[in-house]
Amino acid sequence: MPAKLIIVTNQKGGAGKTTAAVHLAGTAVRRGFKTLLIDADKQGTATKWVAQAEEGQAHKIRVMGLAMAEAKIAQEVKQYVDDYDLIFVDCPPSVDSPIPQVMLMIADLAIVPIVPKPGDLWASTDLLELAERAAAVNPELQIRLLGSNVIANLAMSRHSLTSMATMRESAPLFKTRLHQRTAFVEAMLTGDSVHYFGSSAKTAILEIENLFDEIVATLKLQVPKIKTKGRK
Ligand SMILES: Nc1ncnc2c1ncn2[C@@H]1O[C@H](COP(=O)(O)OP(=O)(O)OP(=O)(O)O)[C@@H](O)[C@H]1O
Ligand SMILES: [Mg+2]
Repeated sequence: MPAKLIIVTNQKGGAGKTTAAVHLAGTAVRRGFKTLLIDADKQGTATKWVAQAEEGQAHKIRVMGLAMAEAKIAQEVKQYVDDYDLIFVDCPPSVDSPIPQVMLMIADLAIVPIVPKPGDLWASTDLLELAERAAAVNPELQIRLLGSNVIANLAMSRHSLTSMATMRESAPLFKTRLHQRTAFVEAMLTGDSVHYFGSSAKTAILEIENLFDEIVATLKLQVPKIKTKGRK
């Protein structure tokens, strides 16, 4: 079976795309999926993040920088679909770049992280319209919103998440939210996801695991038969 292609995209800068993409890749590796993370952003944050891992570190994420491929990125990605189970693509913060435009045409799932603040919601409209148009021609494409960098117990966050839940019929909101937690920031220096920290980051780990479970259900993924006990 060719790899399922999951893109993380939003025109809004700082929405949490790279944080979500690296963490989902780190979770997929631990679940036993053959996983590739594609860094499609010239900023190269995902590449630099993964490069922080030490020699021989466990659960290493394989990352490939393809931002320079621009409109040819689909051809590049297609070369890898038979070698992996899951390919995650961290997209640049743009709706005009050919990268999200092209990737939406071949993706199985587009995750759109949004920080639940009114301005961030408004700034995501063009991308959601682009995704909706892509879904009209790419029958595989599912679109999901993700509450990202959510500040708990903030009325504005709650109101914005309520708006996100009904924002677009074509783009349901994942039940799981990634709350604002230092572990998600500090993970960047480990080359890994928050799993690296073990029990000291257990709430953050639970959030990313729950999000991954929602993706498994959305894409009806066959979970590889490995001992999932003691996932770290
Ligand atoms: N759940 C979270 N908790 C705490 N900090 C977070 C969380 N998610 C993201 N951040 C922080 O917010 C900033 C932006 O996140 P990130 O780089 O993932 O966004 P991005 O959408 O990829 O940005 P860009 O558009 O520049 O590519 C980073 O400093 C990151 O550490
Ligand atoms: Mg980024």
